Amino acid sequence: MDSTPPAPRGLLRVLTCGSVDDGKSTLIGRMLHDAQQIMDDTFATLAKDSRKHGTTGDDTDLALLVDGLEAEREQGITIDVAYRFFTTPARSFILIDSPGHEQHTRNMATGASNSDLAIILVDARKGLLTQTRRHGAICSLLGIRHVVLAVNKFDLVGFDQAVFDRIVADWTGFAAELGFVSMQPIPVSARFGDNVTRLSANTPWYRGPSLLEHLERVQVEDAAGTLPFRFPVQWVNRPGQDFRGYTGTIASGRIAVGDAVVVAASGRQSRVARILGPDGDLPAAVHGQAITICLADELDIARGDMLAPVADRPEVADQFAAQLLWMDETAMLPGRQYLARLGHLWTTASVTAIKHRLDVTDLSQQPGRQLALNEIGLCNLSLASRAAFDPYAENRATGSLVLVDRDSHRTVAAGMIAFGLRRAANIAPEAVLVNKAARAALNQQKPAVLWFTGLSGSGKSTIAKLVEQALHRQGRHTYLLDGDNLRHGLNRDLGFTDADRVENIRRVGEVARLFVDAGMIVLCSFISPFRAERRMVRELVGPGEFIEIFVDTPLDECMRRDPKGLYEKARAGRIPNFTGLTSPYEPPEQPELRLLTADRSPDECAREVLDHWAD
Ligand code: ADX
Repeated sequence: MDSTPPAPRGLLRVLTCGSVDDGKSTLIGRMLHDAQQIMDDTFATLAKDSRKHGTTGDDTDLALLVDGLEAEREQGITIDVAYRFFTTPARSFILIDSPGHEQHTRNMATGASNSDLAIILVDARKGLLTQTRRHGAICSLLGIRHVVLAVNKFDLVGFDQAVFDRIVADWTGFAAELGFVSMQPIPVSARFGDNVTRLSANTPWYRGPSLLEHLERVQVEDAAGTLPFRFPVQWVNRPGQDFRGYTGTIASGRIAVGDAVVVAASGRQSRVARILGPDGDLPAAVHGQAITICLADELDIARGDMLAPVADRPEVADQFAAQLLWMDETAMLPGRQYLARLGHLWTTASVTAIKHRLDVTDLSQQPGRQLALNEIGLCNLSLASRAAFDPYAENRATGSLVLVDRDSHRTVAAGMIAFGLRRAANIAPEAVLVNKAARAALNQQKPAVLWFTGLSGSGKSTIAKLVEQALHRQGRHTYLLDGDNLRHGLNRDLGFTDADRVENIRRVGEVARLFVDAGMIVLCSFISPFRAERRMVRELVGPGEFIEIFVDTPLDECMRRDPKGLYEKARAGRIPNFTGLTSPYEPPEQPELRLLTADRSPDECAREVLDHWAD
């Protein structure tokens, strides 16, 4: 080894992956101890101080990292990632530690998106585990280009070179396609310190650097500095008539007063008139700095917009393909709507197709109809509004998104955008000459969706039919969509899995919307067991046009009635996924109308609907 200390190369953010069993905490402790630089302050307080004092350079990077975390905290994501800061004469390090259990993939992903390099720990006695492979795949997806394979507990295999060679061969075979720029395998004993900060006499056959030496020397590219300018607008700062500024943190690149910029989504252009930092005007600013930009022209810009150079713009689309890492116990179902956050833009999104799932054990591509906890899949996503983005491979800051469950507000997925879908760009809604209002006027009625939800046998269809008959007699233009009927035609390819029920209601919702647009009163009778999809239909039509009618018949009563004999069959185990028995039903929380059918006749219930809905 050459003895001149390497030149300082700034800050290296190092993610440690592996489980307690692999000896991760010991390795971290050993490194901190041997480097004699233990600082018990958490990274968060350190960075907060540095920001308070308005420092620049590396410290800006620290602040940037914390800013990212604060943004996540704002949305109520609980992250369980520990940051430790230490420094040697050659370099400063942040160790980003995520828990090693499989269900904590979420934390690992949070850490990985901020890291330059990952140490992936392996127990020398066990070799590569599924978890090791998953960590490798996630690191790669999240854009980490440098890894160290730390083969730990080497003392327990007698410092045997053959063990090392075998594990390295396994890893190299697996990781070949993961696009790592550097992969350094190192045999270590965290417990005794072999090859952690100093090369060990126990492994004379090992020719590489110690772990710390490698971390001090590894060359990582400072991507954000060389990328084009990207400025996601966090808020529009307008204290009075004569000032309007756009505040945010520069995601990448550099900006100077006088530069030409474009608002990505609208294509409107202007020049930078002023840049304001915490201490006043700045001539220029770089990635990581929190600034306020004033433009020469008054443009219509809102939170979630992105400013970029006129000559180097991000893509803008409302559909794209993205790798999704699913982090929730409840599986991802195509067609279900989630909240999506891209930068500071919040919108709704749904998966329109799963192109493939990734099998992390061999990186093969498998077909899939849903994504379960910890699964990774390349998916097509459709957003409710257009968004500016870069492919994640080009820009980690502007190419990522998170999906959030609309009810629980849990973050359910991390997404890495692969590319925008052309189809979205080439289709524009056709303007029509006769519209909903005109058709409704001709029909002399207020179009609406009367949505009947409830268990099988609750009486939905019976009541809906009576309501339709009465409306028809009043001269209303109606149409009845019924689960059993549609499942013979439009939805004949669908069964009763959660995924199929979501798709069933998605299609029915689109059909109902067309009927409303046609000026009709459409009655829909579907179990529609999930709140998320009922809400989706509600949001497809206009305000006040969706009337949710909960046909509230207790399960016992439905089973007693059992009009089609299905409960009996289901109880005998002959119908899988039967609602109320082996498949869930989520009752409406705030329906427009709740019909208690147990001691009322269908006619009375129908009358109640008509009384409620008198337009
Ligand atoms: S939904 O859940 O997707 O909204 P939908 O209303 O279309 O269901 O269809 C429900 C009807 O299908 C029931 O009324 C019943 O007649 C029939 N059916 C057959 N299998 C099942 C099942 N496993 N669960 C519920 N209903 C079933």
